[in-house]
Amino acid sequence: MIVRFGYWLVLLTVCCVTLANSEVYTDEVEFDNNTFVDNVPFQSDCDCGKFSRSCSYVEGKKKCICYDLYADKQGTCVSCYCKNANYYNRCEFDDSGSKKCNCLKGYAELNGDCQECNCGEHGNCILYAWGKTCRCENGYADNYGTCKECDCGEHGICSFSAEYKQCSCDSKFAENDFGKCEACDCGENARCTFNAGKKQCVCKHGFAENFLGKCKECDCKMDDSNCTIDGFAIKKCQCPKGFEQSKDNPVCIEKDECLSPEDNDCDPISTKCVNTRGSYDCVCKEGFQIIYNILGYYDIKKDGCKDIDECLDYSPCIHLHTRCVNTPGSYKCECTAGYSLEKDSYAEKYNYCSEGARPWKTASIVVQFV
Ligand SMILES: *[C@@H]1O[C@H](CO)[C@@H](O)[C@H](O)[C@H]1NC(C)=O
Ligand SMILES: *[C@@H]1O[C@H](CO)[C@@H](O)[C@H](O)[C@H]1NC(C)=O
Repeated sequence: MIVRFGYWLVLLTVCCVTLANSEVYTDEVEFDNNTFVDNVPFQSDCDCGKFSRSCSYVEGKKKCICYDLYADKQGTCVSCYCKNANYYNRCEFDDSGSKKCNCLKGYAELNGDCQECNCGEHGNCILYAWGKTCRCENGYADNYGTCKECDCGEHGICSFSAEYKQCSCDSKFAENDFGKCEACDCGENARCTFNAGKKQCVCKHGFAENFLGKCKECDCKMDDSNCTIDGFAIKKCQCPKGFEQSKDNPVCIEKDECLSPEDNDCDPISTKCVNTRGSYDCVCKEGFQIIYNILGYYDIKKDGCKDIDECLDYSPCIHLHTRCVNTPGSYKCECTAGYSLEKDSYAEKYNYCSEGARPWKTASIVVQFV
């Protein structure tokens, strides 16, 4: 604005002087025309600073020719240098004043210099702070930083994954045995592939082939499950271990292995079965304990649990004339010979023995943990 305003002032002055010295003043209209000011500046006002060889206006645009290692930055020659750049025009500024390096082949601009960057004969290399990318020609793709031949034909995009070529074919095309995308269409819900030169239809995930050879929705809703459709159009699930088909729907659900003894290996005497997602655990019943091997490991499913001999650890039968007898998972208190059982009104545990009338009767107190 200031520059433009300056020109107006200069022009006004020139015009007024002209007006004063002669009668000829014809072009008043041009004062209203902005392009007039921009398009016809005075060459004598042209100045590109002290590092310029020349300054000129070409079609209203200022052009600076600068000394070596200087370049025109928005009308002034300023220092401009890029390492590893082309000799001519090695460094420039664009219209917005940003520095641009014209790099030698095998180099690309990064941080105001040209740095090594090579994608081979068939692509341009671009550097970013995080690394380089290759922009390859048609028919080539980036393979570990070099543009290598990679062609899937007209109907697909070729790329490399590790050193292997991959075709991502358009819809209704598939990669044939020659690595090109070829027309291949199995209709809805199916994937078409080529196998040993032959076209093959495979149902998409979540679909199965029915007896008419069409892919229909069939999804047991679990990884590793398979769904099939039988001749009566009934869907059947193959579920992974620990899961089973629901009675209500053709989907796989958690199976409770504890419901039926055939479905679990838990020893029914010493262990209890506990269902878990996709499996089950066996835990020791009360009165039984884990069997450790020499290394300190245990396997309840394989070994079960062993009975705890409560009579050894402590003396649970506290009354006179009783003795402790171990039972699987528990113990009982029996009366010694000549004594018979008397029930305690408070708890069975406190039953006691007294000199009974009928000592021959086998009397015992059974304490059962369940
Ligand atoms: C403004 O300048 C242009 C180009 O010089 C010219 O074609 C146009 O007629 C001018 N307009 C007026 C209003 O003078
Ligand atoms: C589902 O099918 C695949 C492929 O045939 C097979 O590997 C897998 O074991 C099957 N899954 C089940 C749960 O049967």
